[in-house]
Amino acid sequence: MNAASPSIQELLARRVSGYALEQPFYTSPTIYQLDLEHIFYQEWLYATPACQLAKTGSYVTMRVGAYEVIVVRGRDGEIRAFYNSCRHRGSLICKAREGHVAKLVCPYHQWTYELDGKLIWANDMGPDFNASKHGLKPVNLRNFDGLIYICLSDTPPDFDAFARLARPYLEIHDLKDSKVAFTSTIIEKANWKLVWENNRECYHCSSNHPALCRSFPLDPEVAGVQADGRVSAKLQAHFDRCSAAGAPAQFQLADDGQYRVARMPLQEKAVSYTMDGKAAVAKNLGRVAPPDAGSLLMFHYPSTWNHFLPDHSLTFRVLPISATETEVTTTWLVHKEAVEGVDYDLKRLTEVWIATNDEDREIVENNQLGILSPAYIPGPYSPGQESGVTQFVDWYAAWLERALAPLQVAAE
Ligand code: FES
Ligand SMILES: [Fe+2]
Repeated sequence: MNAASPSIQELLARRVSGYALEQPFYTSPTIYQLDLEHIFYQEWLYATPACQLAKTGSYVTMRVGAYEVIVVRGRDGEIRAFYNSCRHRGSLICKAREGHVAKLVCPYHQWTYELDGKLIWANDMGPDFNASKHGLKPVNLRNFDGLIYICLSDTPPDFDAFARLARPYLEIHDLKDSKVAFTSTIIEKANWKLVWENNRECYHCSSNHPALCRSFPLDPEVAGVQADGRVSAKLQAHFDRCSAAGAPAQFQLADDGQYRVARMPLQEKAVSYTMDGKAAVAKNLGRVAPPDAGSLLMFHYPSTWNHFLPDHSLTFRVLPISATETEVTTTWLVHKEAVEGVDYDLKRLTEVWIATNDEDREIVENNQLGILSPAYIPGPYSPGQESGVTQFVDWYAAWLERALAPLQVAAE
């Protein structure tokens, strides 16, 4: 710790809204740790689509900071989450990122847990051993219309307000009828906030995303946030047309800015994220009537943004790995009865976002490298093009300020 370093409260207090953050927010291990403790360890986080866990015993694991978590489907069909740490001497139980098991068996001394976390076998533990006191420690979980969210906090924040707002938009996408067509996980060598900042604007799109720009509009209103909540007559006409056809569309942002839903138009004539703008899947996932309804854009800070289209859906999960590394997992969902090679071509379905993710990775890695320079000075966001970035950074700063109110922490 450097006595000359400003405290994080001082950095937050001198922050200018509408400007990028100062360097330590993107580089400091201390602030990274605070981001974990006060945001990622407290908030609801998107884990996986429920359909990824198609059968009894299907599981995925994920790492959130220092925590390893298992999400698994039980014999009763329920999906549950547990800390991936054996109640004997703490070993990891599931080592793979995904798989299928009959029971959860610790590889160290074979303590064996039922899929609901109960300890059912532990060899030679003596007459006084009480197996019922050594079940796996549960993690809070919600299955929100086919999207699994977890929360590591013992006192999880409210989830219902988000679910109430987003459900009418999401339910017509019928994620309960989906299957995973493809998953990609990439590591971006950049702070998680840079990944988000990049996501929240399309100022960079025309010069960096040739494939995406075939279908995604460059209109800053689509990615941004209007300060007064008003939208153009053209966009309002799109919202009204979708809503009248049973596909809620109106832009809505949480009071504290943590989540947003809006069904945004694509480029004229485009209906999906493909190179020719035509549908990627012949069998639609969901009941969105207007083929040109565009994309339901839903984000929930700090861990997920999503695109729900009339023909397929895309979920993105953002998990920090270190102060300068972030894991981004993209999952393509299609109707469970859609047949690869018949109803969709996997390359055609995935190529736009595989390219876009890679382009974004390079952009944010360059952003991180430039910020690491001592010459870095936070610059202004474009009011017209980067309102979404300002919205994200304001949310983050307000969140951290509230969480740190009783503390004084030096930035380095
Ligand atoms: S640590 Fe798991 S069985 Fe020993
Ligand atoms: Fe991008």
